[in-house]
Amino acid sequence: MNTERITIDPQSPDPDTIARAAAILRRGGLVAFPTETVYGLGANALDADAVGRIFTAKGRPSNNPLIVHVADAAEVSQLTSSRPDTFAQLTAAFWPGRLTLVLPKSEVVPDVVTAGGATVAVRMPAHPVALALLRATQLPLAAPSANLSSELSPTSADHVLRGLAGRIDLILDAGPTTAGIESTVLDLTAQPPRVLRPGPITTAQLEAVIGPVTQVALSNPPETPLPSPGLLPRHYAPRTPLELGTIERVRDLARQGTRVGWVTHSRTEEANATVREMPSDAAEYAEKLYAVLHELDTLGLDRIVVEPPPEGDEWLAIRDRLCRASQM
Ligand code: TXA
Ligand code: MG
Repeated sequence: MNTERITIDPQSPDPDTIARAAAILRRGGLVAFPTETVYGLGANALDADAVGRIFTAKGRPSNNPLIVHVADAAEVSQLTSSRPDTFAQLTAAFWPGRLTLVLPKSEVVPDVVTAGGATVAVRMPAHPVALALLRATQLPLAAPSANLSSELSPTSADHVLRGLAGRIDLILDAGPTTAGIESTVLDLTAQPPRVLRPGPITTAQLEAVIGPVTQVALSNPPETPLPSPGLLPRHYAPRTPLELGTIERVRDLARQGTRVGWVTHSRTEEANATVREMPSDAAEYAEKLYAVLHELDTLGLDRIVVEPPPEGDEWLAIRDRLCRASQM
């Protein structure tokens, strides 16, 4: 398959381009598109064959369910059998945006979307291109991150094509995404609601709206059975082996002749490595993280060492992604 790439304005997407992408989706094809978090790989969520093609293109295990993207909160009614009061509170506060909500699914959602489970994950993204596409198709779109399974999520069209060139019909290239890491996933079928994947919307922000929520432990090994297959330990990983470590570790590796990439958010000292300085603000760090890892991954290094990120709620999602990226 030849993957077409079309550049599109992120703020005012060209209607003809959107119509073309929507036509591909309506006939069961695969289109990668930007969201404010990462690029997604979209298919018609109501078409089991189309959704099956997502799993094939990504090499994704069939037990890992997909997020269904919607054009507005009202569209969730047809996809779900019930919605607690917290659903309306959370969507009023955070949609469109970086929050995915897990609810009991209705019969219209094919089993392949939910990996056979009784719940469905839904999100209304905030990116103008994603919203234009959702409105033009008039369909809910199943869309995981547009990368090969277990690899780094893409924050640019080049990242998408690194893994998926030749495996998808079209990519809409709107330049780099801004939120950087994947949405927070909150399970509203649990009592109290439970964060399955930490993300840009923090636990404190959620609790300010709906009261106490629980958190799946950031543990290694993870809980068994896994509450969400996306919590598989190795995930979000560059092809180059990655570890969390200090500048001393970098110097030791360099002395042994190892070619090291050093990702640090503190003052740079001489490291005899390829150094990438990161912002000390968590949101800015998140925006850059995958782009830096993708870039280091193309340099033929033997190892990437990342300075452990600070403690604190706003760094939790970053710590989570880096811990998973470092599982070998
Ligand atoms: O920001 C994002 O969420 C991006 C953009 C494209 O929207 N999407 C994304 O999708 O990261 P994906 O497939 O890479 O990650 C979806 C996560 C996985 O951890 C998956 O296991 C979990 O959501 N998930 C999906 N449906 C679920 C369900 N019904 N119950 C529990 N977890 C679910
Ligand atoms: Mg993913």
